[in-house]
Amino acid sequence: MRMRTSFLLLVLLMVPAWLITIAQQPLVLTADPAHPGAAISPQMFGIFFEDINFGADGGLYPELVENRSFEFSEPLTGWHQVLDVGKEGIRPSRGGMSVRDVEPLNASNPHYLHVQVDEPGYAMRNGGFHGMGVNEGAEYRFSAYVRSHGAQSLRMVVKDGKGQELASGRLEGFTSVWKHYETVVRVRSTEAHAQLYLIFDEPGQLDLDMVSLYPLDTWNHRPNGLRKDLVQLLYDMHPGFLRFPGGCIVEGRQLSNRYRWKTTVGDPAERRLIRNRWNDEFDHRPAPDYFQSFGLGFYEYFQLAEDIGARPLPILSCGLACQFNTSETAALDEMHEYVQDALDLIEFANGPVDSAWGKVRAQMGHPAPFYLEMIGVGNENWGERYFDRYKLFSAELKKQHPEIQLVVSAGPSPDGELFESAWKEWRKEKADLVDEHYYMSPEWFLANAGRYDHYDRSGPKVFAGEYAAQTRGAAQQENRNNWRAALAEAAFMTGLERNGDVVRMASYAPLLANSAAWQWAPDAIWFNTLTSYGTPDYYVQKLYGSNAGSRVISVAQQTDKGLYTSAVLNEKTHELIVKVVNNNAAAAPLEIHPQGLSGNAEAKLFTMQSADLTVENSFEHPQAIAPVESSVEVKNGVIATSVEPYSFTVWRIPLR
Ligand code: AHR
Repeated sequence: MRMRTSFLLLVLLMVPAWLITIAQQPLVLTADPAHPGAAISPQMFGIFFEDINFGADGGLYPELVENRSFEFSEPLTGWHQVLDVGKEGIRPSRGGMSVRDVEPLNASNPHYLHVQVDEPGYAMRNGGFHGMGVNEGAEYRFSAYVRSHGAQSLRMVVKDGKGQELASGRLEGFTSVWKHYETVVRVRSTEAHAQLYLIFDEPGQLDLDMVSLYPLDTWNHRPNGLRKDLVQLLYDMHPGFLRFPGGCIVEGRQLSNRYRWKTTVGDPAERRLIRNRWNDEFDHRPAPDYFQSFGLGFYEYFQLAEDIGARPLPILSCGLACQFNTSETAALDEMHEYVQDALDLIEFANGPVDSAWGKVRAQMGHPAPFYLEMIGVGNENWGERYFDRYKLFSAELKKQHPEIQLVVSAGPSPDGELFESAWKEWRKEKADLVDEHYYMSPEWFLANAGRYDHYDRSGPKVFAGEYAAQTRGAAQQENRNNWRAALAEAAFMTGLERNGDVVRMASYAPLLANSAAWQWAPDAIWFNTLTSYGTPDYYVQKLYGSNAGSRVISVAQQTDKGLYTSAVLNEKTHELIVKVVNNNAAAAPLEIHPQGLSGNAEAKLFTMQSADLTVENSFEHPQAIAPVESSVEVKNGVIATSVEPYSFTVWRIPLR
């Protein structure tokens, strides 16, 4: 049977008497091929990444050694002398270790470990970022910079929690100048809490820096690459864009610890580490060992975006430190450096290989451009000081790079005085994209599913840049990633999709959380040292990302009594994609009548459903709630079905 791409679609809710309060009128979706709905941005559903919850070091960036460069404020953090090195039992220390800064490896990495070996067998260990996960059969590169004052070799051993050896290797041939040494070891069995031991078998002294144990099996096998299971989850979301590096981390608590992209590119050993701003943000979740090594820096972010098929969206400091913290502000006559950072970033991403920054990109291994098209100026900033500083950026960037879209902030909340004043300003400025944030209750998300139905169509476009339903309250540690929250987000997102002409991009936040060291909940993906799982919120994001369309199909009565609907046309695959959220405790019979389809066909169906709104995923039950794929018959051009209680369903209906 052949179905016409031109169609008039009718969706009729056939409501039995006992459901009369849910939907009294049939829903009708219409699409007129002569007047197609608005175009939807190919970047509509994307990813927000911030180094919060040990999302970078100890997460996506799979370095296993904590404080490899001895640059933490307590420079021996993570490192412990070993009194018991194995068979001999407990013995007193046979040497000493201290942190020094005389003739360091380089100026950005001013500290190193000095080891004094008095007797063979002196050893130390490192247990990773709240645990060190290693996998059976996997290979790891052990490496370090070493400078010898006598001692010629060092042994490394990976042990499991019971002290059993899982792998071992040796570095040797040290000289009196700093040099990089490495060896590859294969691990015998999987262990979530391994320990890396450094054992010194010859008396003497040596200096160590950048002591690293790094998996070879990274995403796309990239050196200095990213953790595979986590990138797989991101890739599976089909993200249209990757926003990085945040979040408040962009701004810093003070300007001195704002994110400076230039210090995050080039040789990882020369990237100056700083304290992570989430280190001491929350008294209830202190993280004194939280720093940013920048092993995951701007080059790696751009590479990640490319690897997962997403457009890069870097956010830069606008010269204002976090306004929830110090609000430290760069004077207007000091703003040159900030604006220049933006101009240089464009050159780093897109410039020819013989330009100053394009050359850096090429030398790092990527001569081709990264196709940067958007930059955010400021994260969650507000007020006159912000507006004044933005104007300095826009004057220069629009003059030199009119091809780059600028993203500006609507402040920290979805309404109120700051929000209104920001929008007033951005309309006046004819800003490209305004970043709105909503960390609100599930009820707010349900009530706001129609938020954009009546937004100004002629003003700046919307970037729903950070949102997540908070079951207890914004940033409360009791917040849960449960079905109630995710279902409310799914309902809200029908409104984003319906209004694709106004809302151009959207991303859930935050993305990642280390289950042993998080600061903020809820989060889309949770991980431990070995595994990871997507929350119901993650799967909602994934369903939207992988079932996106290129044209909006208009929907009538879309928010009717607990039923939330959107429909899109995917012009590439020639499919009509219908999404329905049923936020009622009862099932609702449903008929979908795509006008113009007259024969039989098979439509694909993805359903997330649970009558229990408190259900969550976990390491033990990673898919307690996740999309279930099935199919449904289109009979004589009609799908006759029903939507289950508390469900989110996506139909992909072939149009030819
Ligand atoms: O997503 C966590 C934080 O929430 C972000 O860093 C910030 O932009 C917002 O306040």
